Amino acid sequence: MRSLLGTLILLCGFGYEHGSYAANILVYSPSYSQSHLITNALMADILAEEAGHNVVMFIPEYHETNFNGTKHAKIIRMSGISDSFDENMKDFSAGFIKDHTLSFRLRKLFEEATSEQCEAILRRKSELEQLRSYNFDVAFSEQLDLCGVGIIRYLGIKNHIWISSGSMMDGLSDTLGVPMPISYVPSVEENDLSTEMSFMERAQNMYL
Ligand SMILES: *[C@@H]1O[C@H](CO)[C@@H](O)[C@H](O)[C@H]1NC(C)=O
Repeated sequence: MRSLLGTLILLCGFGYEHGSYAANILVYSPSYSQSHLITNALMADILAEEAGHNVVMFIPEYHETNFNGTKHAKIIRMSGISDSFDENMKDFSAGFIKDHTLSFRLRKLFEEATSEQCEAILRRKSELEQLRSYNFDVAFSEQLDLCGVGIIRYLGIKNHIWISSGSMMDGLSDTLGVPMPISYVPSVEENDLSTEMSFMERAQNMYL
């Protein structure tokens, strides 16, 4: 969070100090849920309004919605991508509050849903070309699924800012070189296992 704030301040600083400098910024923001859209929209609004950058919030609709959350960014939507997220998430949401630790099956379901969604986005070439034509200087994406990283690379955007909307999740810590030994550090997401795990719990932690 600190580095994210630092980056935002830096980008805001650019806007103020070099009056004429406005970056083209992409905020890649799938509609996993309204709360994720709100988080991304807040960042987009700060960058657009307070720092005067040209900000596009791209919303691939994982879940169909008219919501955008932003007041100042331009919105580009991709609708009707695939039903896989909504279909798979029905099971996922059923136990979301009740179950303390995600089962293997639900973990796999989430991964499959986001992968199918990502493949379907990549097939929408002409809309992606429209995004490419903005020549974005910087792109933001969340770490919740990896599609944003791939799309940003595909669009040839050189600078990527990876957002974590919660505490540092396993994929992120691994990439950043922060050790999280799975035998005694519980996986962060959807997980109620403690630092003292039985053998079976450790095995389960490996798959989370
Ligand atoms: C974003 O949401 C607001 C509030 O619902 C709405 O007024 C606005 O038209 C939306 N913008 C776009 C581009 O969809």
